[in-house]
Amino acid sequence: MRDYTNPVPKGKHRVSATAVLQKVPLFSQLSPADLQRVTAVAREKFYPKNSVILFEDDPGDALFVVVSGQVKVVLIGEDGREVILSVLGQGQFFGEMSLIDDEPRSAHVIAMEDANLVVLRREDFEAILTQTPAIALALLREMSRRLRRADEKVGSLVLLDVHGRVARLLLEMAEEEGGERITRRLTHHTIAQMIGSSRETVSRTMRDLVEKGHIEVNRKDMVIRDRAALEQAAGRG
Ligand code: CMP
Repeated sequence: MRDYTNPVPKGKHRVSATAVLQKVPLFSQLSPADLQRVTAVAREKFYPKNSVILFEDDPGDALFVVVSGQVKVVLIGEDGREVILSVLGQGQFFGEMSLIDDEPRSAHVIAMEDANLVVLRREDFEAILTQTPAIALALLREMSRRLRRADEKVGSLVLLDVHGRVARLLLEMAEEEGGERITRRLTHHTIAQMIGSSRETVSRTMRDLVEKGHIEVNRKDMVIRDRAALEQAAGRG
């Protein structure tokens, strides 16, 4: 599973693609033999930080799974402004929409840091989907989760102020990690692009949340200290 035109560099941070695929919710239903078949037809590709993996409006012919690194799904306006629809990390997939509806790519996908990806061609993805209904169900489950997220985002853009939007994003990120801790690395600039605000406003809001004791910001992580206060700000209270 290697692409020699765009090889994965050797180094201490290399993660086994097969080991990651095994843990991806999308493929966790596969028997070891079926997983072996997937890894046999998949290619592994390396994308350096800031490289564009998919261009909005291009035709789509492959599905991607993140083995390591983070990527952002973005829309870029004519004036160059970016809206980040989602940030995806290890084990998450993208590029399925064009394969399913035969429309062009719905957004750009850009590497936020050096990223290793597994690439599955359309034919292989379709074969896996038709042969393994459990995978089709897992795909629907994840797409439904993303639609919920998108619905919540539309709601928060209309109904919440920046304080509430930051609180909601922090709660969501902590939930993804299954607790009160957020280890995902996002700059204030990135958070601003995710919630439709400016870096300055996000920095001010984060400082305020720390001063009020709602969150704690450390060098390696952030911790939610007053969940009830954040939930109230996020309109969930
Ligand atoms: P596709 O349209 O083929 O190419 C861009 C990909 O970005 C898309 O498939 C999805 O995999 C992903 N994507 C688009 N919108 C979102 C979203 N709101 N949340 C998460 N991923 C998305």
